[in-house]
Amino acid sequence: MGEALVGVIMGSRSDWETMRHASETLASLGVPHETRVLSAHRTPDQVAEYAASAEDRGLEVIIAGAGMAAALPGVIAAKTTIPVLGVPMESKVDGLDSLLSMVQMPAGVPVGTLAIGRAGAVNSAILATSIVAARHGEFREKLKALREKQTADVLADPDPSVE
Ligand code: RP5
Repeated sequence: MGEALVGVIMGSRSDWETMRHASETLASLGVPHETRVLSAHRTPDQVAEYAASAEDRGLEVIIAGAGMAAALPGVIAAKTTIPVLGVPMESKVDGLDSLLSMVQMPAGVPVGTLAIGRAGAVNSAILATSIVAARHGEFREKLKALREKQTADVLADPDPSVE
């Protein structure tokens, strides 16, 4: 893979079991990306540096997964104008804490917030690929192939009563 186009960051190593689905989906689509643990609360200086340098390093999208008081995507979005996608982690209150922390950004600093957990992680990668495909057209064919495979998989096995 070449230089990373997408940064996949997360607030804790404990988020990896969910965020691995973002990384694996990007890999399946052939999108160069990097993965890092960075915490808005535990490593705030490094978070600010990561966001401030992201564009100069060639990143075009940042996917940020976090849980509980999930400040990470919002803090990143405050320091960069490249698109930031947020993935809320599941939690003891079903991830609603994470979701609301991400989605309730004040006007002027958007975070594109996805679904809680694995679905959000997968979709963050697909959406990030759509965004980078505007400049890197080769990824458009990968996205079309993914959609076609999903359709074919459903149509190949349409009767749920058949084991
Ligand atoms: C958040 O706190 C992280 O994103 C994680 O989801 C949550 C708990 O972190 P750990 O205590 O498991 O490191 O900042």
